[in-house]
Amino acid sequence: MTVDIVIKNGLTVLPSGITQSNIVIDKGKIIGIVKSNEPKADRVIDAAGKVVLPGMVDMHVHLRDPGFPERENFESGTRAAAAGGVTTVIDMPNTVPATVTLKAFNEKKSIVGKKSLVDFGFIGGAGEVPQKDIREVSEAGATAFKSFLIARFKELAASDYTLLKHMELLGELDKPLLVHAESGVLVDKFMEEAVAAGRTDPMAHCEFRPPICEIEATMRCVTLAAETDVHLHICHMTAAGAVDIVEWAQAMGQNVTGETSTNYLLFTQDTMKERGPYAKVDPPLRTKDDQLRLWEALNDGTIGVLASDHAPYTKEEKERGFDNIYDAPSGGVVIETTLPLMLDAVNNDKISLERLVEVFSTNPAQMNGLYPRKGDIMLGADADIVICDMDKAFHIKGENLQTIQKITPYEDMKGKGMPVMTLVRGEVIFEDGQVIGKPGYGSFQMPLE
Ligand code: DOR
Ligand code: ZN
Ligand code: ZN
Repeated sequence: MTVDIVIKNGLTVLPSGITQSNIVIDKGKIIGIVKSNEPKADRVIDAAGKVVLPGMVDMHVHLRDPGFPERENFESGTRAAAAGGVTTVIDMPNTVPATVTLKAFNEKKSIVGKKSLVDFGFIGGAGEVPQKDIREVSEAGATAFKSFLIARFKELAASDYTLLKHMELLGELDKPLLVHAESGVLVDKFMEEAVAAGRTDPMAHCEFRPPICEIEATMRCVTLAAETDVHLHICHMTAAGAVDIVEWAQAMGQNVTGETSTNYLLFTQDTMKERGPYAKVDPPLRTKDDQLRLWEALNDGTIGVLASDHAPYTKEEKERGFDNIYDAPSGGVVIETTLPLMLDAVNNDKISLERLVEVFSTNPAQMNGLYPRKGDIMLGADADIVICDMDKAFHIKGENLQTIQKITPYEDMKGKGMPVMTLVRGEVIFEDGQVIGKPGYGSFQMPLE
């Protein structure tokens, strides 16, 4: 028997731990994990000296398609994913139209399906929308739903009453509710203070959007969710106080999970002074103490998910913020650099390789109903694999990125640890620094029942 691919000699992260093994791939699936006697293959990939991981499942990206082609599209965004070892992206609902109806959901699926190089899923929107629409979007394959509490995205912002009702419904449908936990009321009032104080400098974004905005919103969501059976997931956590709440809710037996990104793990509010609007994100960057708490929570399990929150804007849009920080939108180009930056963190003993795989692949796959098809190297799973060289140095330059924006909040950062090959369902889509995947190869991922 000749199979399609054997990946040989790599140090492989399996659910049972890290071992030297050979992975046998045929027809897009992992059909063997063996120490020796592997079958003949059309292609043998020698991964000696490298680590072999399941492909990353990035459950929080904004690829801006359809809606904002000047910022990103599914082809450019998934080229970046391929180069960053991400084999499945799950796109947020704030596209245009927002994915809050069956029609918008299906249209998005047909538009981006022709462009995606990697597998993809969608989050539905759960703002002030009829429950009938949530049911339909769920049926159509949304892996989860997202609500904002701030009014920034109209159809996606929910009042407390709506939130409670949607939580009840999503508990019934067995789909997680992801929340952008910032209090609209507090954010707006602090904003008035910033304007009254005449502040327009980058630090104002952090000072006038303090942790209490996030802490109050997290507590409110946890309180409402406790009345229902919903799985509540708090997106992009930044504040130690919010981590305490999630930890407490988990200890009380509530189904609450947390997520964070490299933005908050690697930057603090001091970064605003250096990088200005490039580092502007919502919620904003916090203190060193908050950052330490995030690392602790990521390692002890309180925070179970790492996601990029890739949210690109154009250079022109971002640079407006150098004069007045409030003229720059919040969000940045992150997807391609998340894995290298985290491999560097592994090299610096801030997290283990096994834990990185859990938070950036296994847990997001599970949470979005894609496990065991995605999220681990195991028999019968899709052959979504990223081979990494832990010794390969990187020096981040916006101009070298695959996304259409040649800017990054991580400009000039250096480290060690790079994905060198990415496979999606047994197809090599990134190799030798080149993205060789084809638009349209990526397939829509329906969550498993
Ligand atoms: O910084 C952010 N950017 N936070 C969000 O919640 C939305 C995102 C975006 O879509 O730009
Ligand atoms: Zn958000
Ligand atoms: Zn986001």
